[in-house]
Amino acid sequence: MQLCLLLLLSALATTTNPGITARLTPRALEFGRQLGLQLLQSRLQKDHELNLKGSYHSPLLGTLTYTVPRIHVHELQMNDSTVDFVEDVGVRLRVQHGRVRLSADWGAQLGAIQDKGTAELRTHDLAVGLVLGVGVDGSGRPMVWSAACDARATNLHVEFHQGHSWFYNLLAPLLQRVLRQELNKQLCPELHRAIGQLEAALKDMRVSSQLDPFAAIDYSLLGRPLIMVEHGDAAIKGEFFRVGKCQQSPCSPLPAALPVPLPEALPVVHEPMLLLAVTDFVANSAAFTYFTAGALRRNVSGDMLPQRFPLQLRTKSLGLFSPQLQERYPDQPMELQLWARQQPLLSCRPDALHGTLFGSAEAFVVLPNATRIPAFLLNIDANVTGKPSISGNRLRGTVKLTGLRVTQVKSHVGPVEVTRLETLLKFGLWLFGVPWANKRLQAGIPLPTPHGLRLLNPQLSLQEGFMLIATDLQHQT
Ligand SMILES: *[C@@H]1O[C@H](CO)[C@@H](O)[C@H](O)[C@H]1NC(C)=O
Ligand SMILES: *[C@@H]1O[C@H](CO)[C@@H](O)[C@H](O)[C@H]1NC(C)=O
Ligand SMILES: *[C@@H]1O[C@H](CO)[C@@H](O)[C@H](O)[C@H]1NC(C)=O
Ligand SMILES: *[C@@H]1O[C@H](CO)[C@@H](O)[C@H](O)[C@H]1NC(C)=O
Repeated sequence: MQLCLLLLLSALATTTNPGITARLTPRALEFGRQLGLQLLQSRLQKDHELNLKGSYHSPLLGTLTYTVPRIHVHELQMNDSTVDFVEDVGVRLRVQHGRVRLSADWGAQLGAIQDKGTAELRTHDLAVGLVLGVGVDGSGRPMVWSAACDARATNLHVEFHQGHSWFYNLLAPLLQRVLRQELNKQLCPELHRAIGQLEAALKDMRVSSQLDPFAAIDYSLLGRPLIMVEHGDAAIKGEFFRVGKCQQSPCSPLPAALPVPLPEALPVVHEPMLLLAVTDFVANSAAFTYFTAGALRRNVSGDMLPQRFPLQLRTKSLGLFSPQLQERYPDQPMELQLWARQQPLLSCRPDALHGTLFGSAEAFVVLPNATRIPAFLLNIDANVTGKPSISGNRLRGTVKLTGLRVTQVKSHVGPVEVTRLETLLKFGLWLFGVPWANKRLQAGIPLPTPHGLRLLNPQLSLQEGFMLIATDLQHQT
C-alpha cells in the first residue's frame, strides 16, 4: 500500500499540474471484467435477428438456397478469462475455453423441395486475445481502439433437427469446416465493431459539468493515461471555472499545489480498486471561481440571526462597541453587508483542511424611510479547519473556527471597540454559527460517480497538499 502511494505521488509530480490523479489497480480491471461479462451475457443471451440468406451451388444437386432468420444464444461462458494492463498501450483481454451454444431456425429450398428446421451450434474452445489501446483525444476525452486481435474456435459442432435433418447432418462435417473458417474470419471484425461503438460513445462523453449558476468543473484528461504493468494512472484537470467563461483555458492564476511525498500507512487492509488524489488546487480553483463570480456576498438583517445570538443587529446592541452610534441613531435596526475581499485560501494538511477567509463587513443603520446610512467598515478574517468524510456516497464534513480577527477600516461613528466585538462574535459563532454550518455539512453533497457505479468502503485520508480517497467500486442494481 505504501509503495502504491509512493508511486501515485511520483505520478502526481510528473504530469502537468493535474487537479486529480486517478489510479486504477488490477482489482479494478477484475471488477470491470466481471461487469463486462455480465453485460455481454445479458445482451447476447437472447434472440437475435440475423436475416441471413444465401445459396449454395453444387453441380450434382443444383442450387440450394437457405435462410437463417434468427439465432438464439443459449450459453455464453467465458469464465476462463483474464484482463491485465499492457504497458504504454492499454488493457488486454484473454479468453480461453470459451463456450458458446446457440440455436438457429433455418429454411432451405432445393429445386421444388422446401424444408425447414432448427440447428444447434456449439463450441467449447473459443479463444480470444484482444488488446484495447487507451489514449486521449484533443479535447481531453478518453479514447480506445483495437490494438491487436486474435480470435478463433477450433472445434465447432453443428447438429440439425427436424425436416430432412438426417441429410444435412451427413453434410455437417463439411459444413463445420466452412462455418469455422467463416466464424474465425468474422470474430475480430465483430469485436472491432463493438470497440467502435465504445469509441463513439466516448466521443460524446461530457468532460465538464455545471454545478450551479456560477460554477462548472472541468474533468478532462490532461494527457494520455499512463499505463504500467501494475496500474493505470489518469491525470484529470479537476478545475472549477465560471459558467460561460474561460473554459478549457488556464484562467486561474493559482499554480497547482503539488504534494510533497509524505507516505503514511493508510487505513486499508487490501489494495483498493481505485485511488483518487484530489489536490488543494481543486478546492482553490473553486474558491477562485466563486470569488470572481461575486458569489461570496451576503446581506444580513436582524431577523436572519437567531434570537439568542449575543449580538443583535440594532444600534442599541452594536452601540455597546461604539457609543456614538447609539447616541446618533437611538434604537434603530441595522444591516450588515458581508463579502470576501480576497479569495479564500485552502490547503490540505495531514491533520485537517485549513482555510483562511478574508472578509469585510459594512454596517448600516436602516432609517424608518428605508434609507441606509453607513456606520462603519470592518475587516473580519477567520481561520477554519475542516474534516471531510465520505459515507453513503456523499461527501460530508465538520468545521471548526480556529482564529478570528476583527479590524476597523473606516468609521462614521467614531472608534469601534473591535477587541470586545471580536470576543463576542467568536462566542456567537461558536454557539450558533459553527453548529449551523456543521448541520449543513453533515447532510453532505452527493459524490459524482459514473452512472450505475457507487463507491464501496471508501476511505478518505488527508495528506500534505491533497486528499486521498481509496475505494472499491460496486455496480448499482
Ligand atoms: C461461470 O460463471 C458463472 C457466473 O459467475 C457461474 O454461474 C458458472 O457456474 C461458471 N461456470 C464454470 C464452468 O465455472
Ligand atoms: C445587499 O444590499 C445592497 C443594498 O441594498 C444591494 O445593492 C446588494 O445587491 C445586496 N447584496 C446581496 C448579495 O443581496
Ligand atoms: C430619509 O430620512 C432621512 C432623515 O429623516 C432624510 O435625511 C432622508 O432624506 C430621507 N430619505 C428619503 C429617500 O426620503
Ligand atoms: C490564521 O493562520 C495564519 C497562519 O497560521 C496566521 O498567520 C494568521 O494570523 C491567522 N489568522 C487569524 C485571524 O487567526
